[in-house]
Amino acid sequence: MKPKSKILIIAGSDSSGGAGIQADIKTVTALGGYAMTAITAVTVQNTKKVKTVIPIKPKEIENQILFTCKDIKPNAIKIGMLHSTEVIKSVERAIKKLKISKIVLDPVMIAKGGSRLINKSAIKTLKKKLIKKAFLLTPNIPEAEVLTNIKIKSLKDMIFAANKLIGFGVKNVLLKGGHKNSKYMEDLLINKKEIKIYKNKKIKTVNTHGTGCTLSSAIATYLSCGKPLKKSCELGIKYVNQAIKLNPNYGKGHGPVNHLNSIEINKKFR
Ligand SMILES: Nc1ncnc2c1ncn2[C@@H]1O[C@H](COP(=O)(O)OP(=O)(O)OP(=O)(O)O)[C@@H](O)[C@H]1O
Ligand SMILES: [Mg+2]
Repeated sequence: MKPKSKILIIAGSDSSGGAGIQADIKTVTALGGYAMTAITAVTVQNTKKVKTVIPIKPKEIENQILFTCKDIKPNAIKIGMLHSTEVIKSVERAIKKLKISKIVLDPVMIAKGGSRLINKSAIKTLKKKLIKKAFLLTPNIPEAEVLTNIKIKSLKDMIFAANKLIGFGVKNVLLKGGHKNSKYMEDLLINKKEIKIYKNKKIKTVNTHGTGCTLSSAIATYLSCGKPLKKSCELGIKYVNQAIKLNPNYGKGHGPVNHLNSIEINKKFR
């Protein structure tokens, strides 16, 4: 098949293949899109922990974005791990030049194993400069807590925090419920006009490495080929849910999900 649309991914590399750029490329590809990348950092990690984060120079991140997109124009952008103030500023400068409205910003801060992936001053810059440029912001509960200074324990708290995030200037927020201790996962989509809750049964597994990266890339892919926001979130959540259910159980820590769940291998290549 011919790719349906093109997506630029700005994020960090995860050597274990379950999250970051690797999860993003797999997701975009598995959903029929064409993935392009600008790598912000190279991480040395496995399913148990992040060992090292090797930053890429901000100017080189900007170069990757602009040089690539001058040649192939993406229909949507997904932004993941941006670890420093300088990196955030360089990404903000570059995307301003691109004039693409479908931007999904996943404000990655902490890896599943608990390692911090962004410093404190970068969080300030994210809030001040980049959040308002996004069409959709997809924080998890701990990230929404850090960004808003609101403790989140219930759905009511989620709505309160998500509204505060809308106040920062972003058009839509999908506050993910993966970190809530309950039998059901509730992801909350909110904007100035409406609220939508996506409810799913929690799957009992430790293999949820990269669920957030996978979800934001899936939503960016659906948006990139013209699907409306609510439908894009619904389909993205469904894809992640299947990917968790069919996880291959790799590694000794938080293992990856199964990005291939949407793919049937053509007979010729079996
Ligand atoms: N155990 C689970 N069962 C079903 N759905 C889940 C489970 N864990 C996470 N999800 C879903 O996965 C998606 C990502 O949510 P989550 O809160 O895990 O993101 P995240 O913390 O950013 O992930 P990451 O660790 O990749 O950064 C959401 O749609 C959430 O509902
Ligand atoms: Mg995340």
